[in-house]
Amino acid sequence: MKKIIYFDNAATSWPKPVSVYRKMDEFIRKWGANPGRAGHRMAVGAERIIEETRHQTAQFFAIKDYQRIIFTLNCTDSLNIGIKGLLKRGDHVITTYLEHNSVSRPLEGLVKKGIITVTRVNHSEDGFIDLQELNKAFTPQTRLVVIVHGSNVIGSLQPIREIGKISKEKGTIFMVDAAQTAGVIPIDVEKDNIDLLAFPGHKALFGPPGTGGLYVGPRVDLEPWREGGSGVDSEAELQPKELPFKLEGGTINTVGIAGLGAGITFIQKEGIEKIRQHEMELTKYLLEKLSEMRKVIIYDTGDGEMRIGTVSFNVEGLSPAEVGAILDESFGIACRTGLHCAPYTHKKLGTFPEGTVRFSLGYFNTREEVDFAMNSLTQIVA
Ligand SMILES: Cc1ncc(COP(=O)(O)O)c(C=O)c1O
Repeated sequence: MKKIIYFDNAATSWPKPVSVYRKMDEFIRKWGANPGRAGHRMAVGAERIIEETRHQTAQFFAIKDYQRIIFTLNCTDSLNIGIKGLLKRGDHVITTYLEHNSVSRPLEGLVKKGIITVTRVNHSEDGFIDLQELNKAFTPQTRLVVIVHGSNVIGSLQPIREIGKISKEKGTIFMVDAAQTAGVIPIDVEKDNIDLLAFPGHKALFGPPGTGGLYVGPRVDLEPWREGGSGVDSEAELQPKELPFKLEGGTINTVGIAGLGAGITFIQKEGIEKIRQHEMELTKYLLEKLSEMRKVIIYDTGDGEMRIGTVSFNVEGLSPAEVGAILDESFGIACRTGLHCAPYTHKKLGTFPEGTVRFSLGYFNTREEVDFAMNSLTQIVA
């Protein structure tokens, strides 16, 4: 197969660090038993690695009680467990037009059933939510503020610490969708006033697909939707009340979680600042080159610090799908085109329903790859 230039890290990161592949291979061969379900050495060994990873993940986000980390399938799973486990009839939710469908759809589903009401706060042209409008959106029924940390379309980064402070002062639960930031932007649940942190394991944390997590803060009590085997209190008729068992019914993705642990270790060894710096330098370079290109329209938050490595654009006269197909077929460049599961954002941008071409850069991308992509785009434009 010809060399691939992978610019789709916002969907899932690739490649993974070699240590992730190795850890998963070793884990399935050596510790492939079911953790917590038996007393034999393989089950105990599997459980030890899962609990070590739980500790490590908690430390990564400055979480004091590691049992408040729930392992999930992906960020969508985490968001659903949080949103549906928390909200009750009559609750009001504040959110934004920048959300991914994994926030908007569970909320809209509850609205359609007449269970909750939702207010969406506007954002500026460069993708920052209006904090004055946010302040005014609270009602006595507001139970939850749920906000995407980094936009997966235009790359803007919300000031979550400030938003968390406002939510706390209003006595509301604050949930952050860290799909695009966990692993690349430092997050501290205490300092950032976060009650629920939803994150994928398979994007910037470098775990494999099928991994994710949810931090459940002490101010929150979630109802589980998935009940079943937990390996503890098997005599009880109902799901155990303690975390993580309450929300983690069934056999978890042990191999994936072992890989996630190796991914986080990689970040800790490299240093999150170094990873962030590389992504920012490369993103700025990409933006600079893109903006010099005729017929290219950029939809982006700009080159300030409050951004992530995701850039959206279109080429005049071609649909995003056409551009993506040519990039893939003729040049071996993998990127994503379309709405990126964020239709409300595109309606605001004026790019609905066709969407945009999205380049999302990661730690393993290089300047040479950006140069190659720019040459390829120049040929497409011509
Ligand atoms: C902002 C945002 N939230 C949530 C998700 C869902 O994440 P996952 O693919 O882990 O379910 C994504 C996925 O791209 C995303 O970009």
